[in-house]
Amino acid sequence: MDLSGRSDGYFIFVVLMMVCLIGVCINGETDGDSVGAPMVETEQEALYSAIQGFVGKWFNGSDLYPDPCGWTPIQGISCDVFDGFWYVTDLIIGQVHDNSLPCAQNLEFRPHLFKLQHLKSLSVFNCIISPSRGPILIQSANWDSFSSTLESVEFRANPGLTGQIPTSFGNLKKLQSLVLIDNGLSGSLPVSIGELTQLKRLVMSGNLFTGKIPESYGDLSELLIMDLSRNSLSGSLPLTFGGLTSLLKFDLSKNKIEGEIPSEISNLKSLTLLDLSNNKISGGLSFASQEMSSLEELILSNNPISGDLMNFNWQNVYRLMVLDLSNMGLTGAIPESIPSLKNLRFLGLNNNKLSGNLSPRLAELRNLTALYVNGNNLAGALKFPHEFYMKMGRRFGVRNNSNLCFPVPKSSVSVRPFGVKVCRE
Ligand SMILES: *[C@@H]1O[C@H](CO)[C@@H](O)[C@H](O)[C@H]1NC(C)=O
Ligand SMILES: *[C@@H]1O[C@H](CO)[C@@H](O)[C@H](O)[C@H]1NC(C)=O
Ligand SMILES: *[C@@H]1O[C@H](CO)[C@@H](O)[C@H](O)[C@H]1NC(C)=O
Repeated sequence: MDLSGRSDGYFIFVVLMMVCLIGVCINGETDGDSVGAPMVETEQEALYSAIQGFVGKWFNGSDLYPDPCGWTPIQGISCDVFDGFWYVTDLIIGQVHDNSLPCAQNLEFRPHLFKLQHLKSLSVFNCIISPSRGPILIQSANWDSFSSTLESVEFRANPGLTGQIPTSFGNLKKLQSLVLIDNGLSGSLPVSIGELTQLKRLVMSGNLFTGKIPESYGDLSELLIMDLSRNSLSGSLPLTFGGLTSLLKFDLSKNKIEGEIPSEISNLKSLTLLDLSNNKISGGLSFASQEMSSLEELILSNNPISGDLMNFNWQNVYRLMVLDLSNMGLTGAIPESIPSLKNLRFLGLNNNKLSGNLSPRLAELRNLTALYVNGNNLAGALKFPHEFYMKMGRRFGVRNNSNLCFPVPKSSVSVRPFGVKVCRE
């Protein structure tokens, strides 16, 4: 960088800045008003103690950060002024940045946390790893004191955080985002969360939750994202879920959900992602009873769904880009309505019992970059143009279809897909 042209000006600027800073500092010590608002003592002590609970006894807030909302900010804390006083609005605990305060092994949730009067957002990230003094639970008492302030709760990557979600979370009436990813939480999902009608994001993936998904969650009509993937949830999909009319993303993959996919799902007009893969869902494919004109990704692989592809109204999901129906026990032919899904990028039909030919019209899908039909009963000669094999390469999987063959063109043999024999004349 070339600063030579303005070095004098720059020097003066720096000196002025320093004078200002010293001025502010001196002022700050003698008269808080000129710096900004002061902080209520109970709020300040609650903050120090709450943090000390997480990071350890060595942390002496009043020594290290005498003005936590002002000129000695604590990493991970945001403040705002209410009635002329500073209050903490956002609190992030754990290793988010390089200079974040690391969490202690023998950490504790101090009741002081709940004395922060205007806390909107609480986040505990990569903090509760392997507690040395017994299990760490999300305390069930005290959350009521956040009922008119807290909008966002996030516990992420805390494998040492165990026990259940407190029922009292149902009293956090302002909550818009509840994110509990990759912790050690268990037990059933509280019914009371269905009362949080302002909730937009409900993410509880990667825990040890069991039991049914409460029907009350169908009341969350503002919800945009529901992700309960990677748990051990069982029972069937609640019929009430037709009420989740704002939902964009719905992920229940990697659970033990059984029963059918209710046709109420096709009420979800805004849905872009439906991932129910790796469950025990059965009862065939027929839920697209109405147009689902936003649906872009439909992932149902690894379920004993069985049935065929004929009873599904593929015209109702014409925006699909990703369709994965691998390992579902599907029989019958691949209908011509599937090559009509013009936006398809990924089509996975591996390990079913699909029979009949593979339509050469699939080559007309301009955006298709992966097509997997390994392990079926497809038969006949592959009739794709040479360019299609060239474009797809290994992302065209057709092996383990014993009656499928490749007609050797005069010009080139090199494009023959892996695991397909040459047609006999
Ligand atoms: C912090 O340090 C001050 C003096 O430096 C001391 O009076 C106070 O008790 C300490 N607070 C804690 C919580 O250890
Ligand atoms: C294919 O992808 C392009 C670029 O993402 C997109 O604009 C287009 O609408 C897609 N569909 C078709 C049929 O080309
Ligand atoms: C092909 O099918 C056989 C018999 O069903 C199975 O043992 C084998 O693992 C399959 N191979 C591949 C590559 O899927």
